Amino acid sequence: MPITMNHQEIVDKTVAHVKSLCETDSTGHDWWHIYRVWQTAKSLAKAEGANLFLVEMAALLHDTDDWKLAPNTNIETMLPNASGWLESIKLSETLQHEVLHIINQVSFKGAGVDTPTSSIEAAVVQDADRLDAIGAIGVARAFAYGGAKSRILFNPEGKPTMHQSFEEYKQSNGDTISHFYEKLLLLKDRMNTQTAKELAQQRHDFMEQFLDQFYGEWGIER
Ligand code: ADP
Ligand code: NI
Repeated sequence: MPITMNHQEIVDKTVAHVKSLCETDSTGHDWWHIYRVWQTAKSLAKAEGANLFLVEMAALLHDTDDWKLAPNTNIETMLPNASGWLESIKLSETLQHEVLHIINQVSFKGAGVDTPTSSIEAAVVQDADRLDAIGAIGVARAFAYGGAKSRILFNPEGKPTMHQSFEEYKQSNGDTISHFYEKLLLLKDRMNTQTAKELAQQRHDFMEQFLDQFYGEWGIER
């Protein structure tokens, strides 16, 4: 691969690579999740004045080492799939480090666990990923993930867990409706950028409506 690739060529190669990695995913982390996060991240980056190349690369590679998909990967210390790719396309060490640093800050780590970001680029990618976890798409993804992990839709006797650590979050395996209380309904107040806060509010309102309808059909009080 030539080392003279420009940023556009690097992004294009990365798109093809990531597509091939997640083509067969059925947990809600398929290529079109990555595509939506990439597009949203680009538009947030433009609105917020973030470095577009770094944001695009981190958005495209943000789930290639995710613990939910590659449970043996130690995301605290290294991102073998993303770093292997960046190395293979001979991205400069500085840029590699910057992209990996953003990816490390994206993931949700539990209801009671803070996930601060250290740059506008990380803030934008985290917001874009979280916007795709809420609203109608978020509802669809949550049930797809729950099904892929053999979780039941709703246990009326269940109770959400307010995880105090990332470990506790990783081990939780409740019903999918509980996941709304453990993550999805918390996200609107955890958006970083103003643009994402506004989008999140509409998507949040839709999830509230969805839950009202869901409980209504069950014939139970919320
Ligand atoms: P993050 O890195 O913040 O977890 P992802 O892009 O990997 O974000 O997507 C996480 C999505 O996976 C959630 O938004 C949800 O749709 C799904 N998910 C994760 N855990 C659960 C769960 N326990 N029950 C249902 N869905 C879940
Ligand atoms: Ni994601």
